[in-house]
Amino acid sequence: MSDQHAQTSFFDNVTMGIGAWAWGDRLTWGYGRGYQLADLRAVFETSLAAGIRLFDTAEVYGQGQSETILGQFIKTTEQPVEIATKFMPFPWRLTRGTLLKALRGSLRRLGVSQVKLYQVHMPLPPMNIETWMEAMVEAVQAGLIQGVGVSNYDSDQMRRAYDRLMRDGIPLASNQVEYNLLNRKVEKNGLLKQCEELGIKVIAYSPLAMGVLSGKYSPDNLPGGVRGGRYNQRFVQKILPMLDLLKKIGNDHAGKTPAQVAINWTICKGTLPIPGAKTQSQADQNAGALNWRLSDEEVAWLDAMSDQVLQD
Ligand SMILES: NC(=O)c1ccc[n+]([C@@H]2O[C@H](COP(=O)([O-])OP(=O)(O)OC[C@H]3O[C@@H](n4cnc5c(N)ncnc54)[C@H](OP(=O)(O)O)[C@@H]3O)[C@@H](O)[C@H]2O)c1
Repeated sequence: MSDQHAQTSFFDNVTMGIGAWAWGDRLTWGYGRGYQLADLRAVFETSLAAGIRLFDTAEVYGQGQSETILGQFIKTTEQPVEIATKFMPFPWRLTRGTLLKALRGSLRRLGVSQVKLYQVHMPLPPMNIETWMEAMVEAVQAGLIQGVGVSNYDSDQMRRAYDRLMRDGIPLASNQVEYNLLNRKVEKNGLLKQCEELGIKVIAYSPLAMGVLSGKYSPDNLPGGVRGGRYNQRFVQKILPMLDLLKKIGNDHAGKTPAQVAINWTICKGTLPIPGAKTQSQADQNAGALNWRLSDEEVAWLDAMSDQVLQD
C-alpha cells in the first residue's frame, strides 16, 4: 500500500471536524459568560446529527475541562464519535514516558480506551521530535491511539516526524496548522504541497479566523479579549472587501453565509477544517459548509481577494 493510499483511508469520510478549544475555556473564550454547558451539548448533538463525528480537543484546553466535557457528552450518545486530542511538550516533560502518562490522563478525562488521533501540540524544546515520535509508536502499539499527528510543525520538523514514524511503518496522519483566508502561510511556504506529496492531511485550525470571517465583527464591533490584539480595528477595516465577497458568493449559493463560504474554501483546498462553535446556531450554520462546493472560479476570486487585502 502506498503512503498516499494509507493516508487517504485514515481520514476517509471525514470532511470536517469540530474544534473544542472553547469548551470549558474561561481565559480565552469566556466559558460561562455567554455560553454554558447546555450550549456545548447542543453543539455536540447538532454536529453529530449533521454527520460530523470528529472532535478536536487538547489536554490544555480549559486545563482539561474540554476533554472532560467531551467525555461527558460521548457517554450520552450511541453514535460513533472520533476524538483527536493533543499532548503539550512542556519543557519540564523530559522523558518519553511523560507522553504516555499525559495520554492516559486524556483517556481518563475522555472516558475512552483509545482515541483516533494523538497530536503533539507544538514543537517546543528541549526534547527532540524523534523522542516524541518514539513515544507515539509505543502508544500506537499499545492500542491507545489509532493515528499520530503533529501540530504547528514546519516543513523540516514535519519531515523529521514523518521519517521517524516510517521507521516503524506508521504514516504521519496529519499536521494541524492555522489556515484560513486571512492566513495562507502554509499554502505560500509549500507546507500544504509537501503534505499532499507525503499523504499527510492538513487539519485547518481557526478556519474562521477566530470568528472574524463570519462577518459579524466590524470596525465598530471588534472581538474582545485576546483576539482584540490581532484582529484590531485597522485589520478588520482592511479586510472588509473580503467580507463583502464572502457575502456575495454566499448569496450566489442560495444564501450560504460568509462562515459557510470561508469553511468551504478550506475544504476546496484539500484541508480538513475544525471550526469552533459555542452555540447550537453556530454549529448548525457551520455544518452548512458541507455537501456543496465552491466553483474553481470562486476559489480563485477568494484567493485573489485574500492576496489583495493582506498585501500591506
Ligand atoms: N493546534 C493549535 O495550536 C490550535 C490553535 C487554535 C485552534 N485550534 C483548534 O481549532 C479549533 C478552531 O479554531 P478557533 O476556535 O481558534 O477558531 P475558528 O474556528 O476560526 O473560530 C471559532 C469562533 O468563531 C465564532 N464562530 C464560530 N462559528 C460561527 C458562526 N457560524 N457565526 C459567527 N461566529 C462563529 C465563535 O466565537 P465567538 O462567538 O466568540 O465569536 C467560535 O468560538 C479550536 O477549537 C481548536 O480545536 C488548534
